[in-house]
Amino acid sequence: MTADRLAAEESAGGSIVDVALTVNGRSAPVRVEARRTLSDVLREDVGLTGTHLGCEHGVCGACTVLIDGQPARSCLLLAAQVDGAEITTIEGLAEPDGTLHPIQQAMMQAHGFQCAFCAPGFLMSAVALLADNPQPTRSEIREELAGNLCRCTGYQSIVDGVEIAVRRMNGDSSGGSS
Ligand code: FES
Ligand code: FES
Repeated sequence: MTADRLAAEESAGGSIVDVALTVNGRSAPVRVEARRTLSDVLREDVGLTGTHLGCEHGVCGACTVLIDGQPARSCLLLAAQVDGAEITTIEGLAEPDGTLHPIQQAMMQAHGFQCAFCAPGFLMSAVALLADNPQPTRSEIREELAGNLCRCTGYQSIVDGVEIAVRRMNGDSSGGSS
């Protein structure tokens, strides 16, 4: 299937590139079209469909992943642009034994999402925020997550969830109520 796709690309004059990615700590080399987006590579070539695609033009944030620790919209990047990078997707948040990341536990506690289509992008943005600022204020959380869109919740429960994560990650194991 992939071979057919690449052959068609080459016969149409397109370029094929080898891209060395590390995804969630594992080497993930791929041979893809030079024009192929990182989001498509993650979902279709690497097989990690947790990264969602909403708008596919940089507006909704559903496709957010971490690239060398920084949040980025994978629909706006070509895989070839991030050759050699370390990518973290939503599948990489939990521990190998399945223990959820504190932000995932907090969102469950807060009932942060409804349909959860937006969840992967929000969670990756929140992880980046908390790595940079372990004790953000509510307004800082709102500001940092303003680039992620949700069509269901009205955002309050998502911000509540991040606040619970902040408390958990700063020593309050219960997270307290929101
Ligand atoms: S799918 Fe990438 S920003 Fe919407
Ligand atoms: S929970 Fe449905 S889009 Fe956010």
